[in-house]
Amino acid sequence: MADFISRSPEETLAWAEQFAKSLRPNDTVLLLGEMGAGKTLIAKGIAKGLGIREEVTSPTYAYVNAYDDYLFHFDCYRVTSEEQAFRLGLADYFGAGGICLVEWSENIAGLLPEDVKRIEIIKRGEVDREIRF
Ligand SMILES: Nc1ncnc2c1ncn2[C@@H]1O[C@H](COP(=O)(O)OP(=O)(O)OP(=O)(O)O)[C@@H](O)[C@H]1O
Ligand SMILES: [Mg+2]
Repeated sequence: MADFISRSPEETLAWAEQFAKSLRPNDTVLLLGEMGAGKTLIAKGIAKGLGIREEVTSPTYAYVNAYDDYLFHFDCYRVTSEEQAFRLGLADYFGAGGICLVEWSENIAGLLPEDVKRIEIIKRGEVDREIRF
C-alpha cells in the first residue's frame, strides 16, 4: 500500500481497515508516531478489518490486549526496561501465530523480531496525518 494523507480520523480508520487485508499470521506491525498521532486509531481500524468485533481500547493497566486470541495490541509506553518487558513475557507473543501491533516499540527494541512492518503516522495539522508505510 502506498503512503497516504489522511484528512480525518474516519479516513485513517478506513485506510487501516484496508491495510489489515495485507496482514498474515505472525506479522508484527510497529505503529510509530508521537502522542495523539493516531496509533491506537490505526489499531482499531486493523481490528475492524480483521473482523474483530470487540472494541479496541488503549491497554491501560496491561501492556498487551488480546482479541480473539489472534490480534495482540501492545502499548509499551510505560515499559521501563527491556528486561522488565522480557520478564513480563512480552517477547513470547511475536511469531506465536497471531498478529502483533506495537505502540512505543522504541521501549522494547531489543525484543522485536527481525522482520517487522512499520507504519509511521506524522501529524501535519489538527486533523491531517501523513501515513507512511
Ligand atoms: N486524520 C486523523 N487520523 C487519526 N487520528 C486523528 C486524525 N485527526 C484527528 N485525530 C485524532 O487524533 C487522536 C489520535 O489518538 P490515538 O489514541 O489514536 O493516538 P496515539 O498515537 O495512540 O497516542 P498515544 O501515544 O497517546 O497512545 C484521536 O483523538 C483522533 O480523533
Ligand atoms: Mg495509543
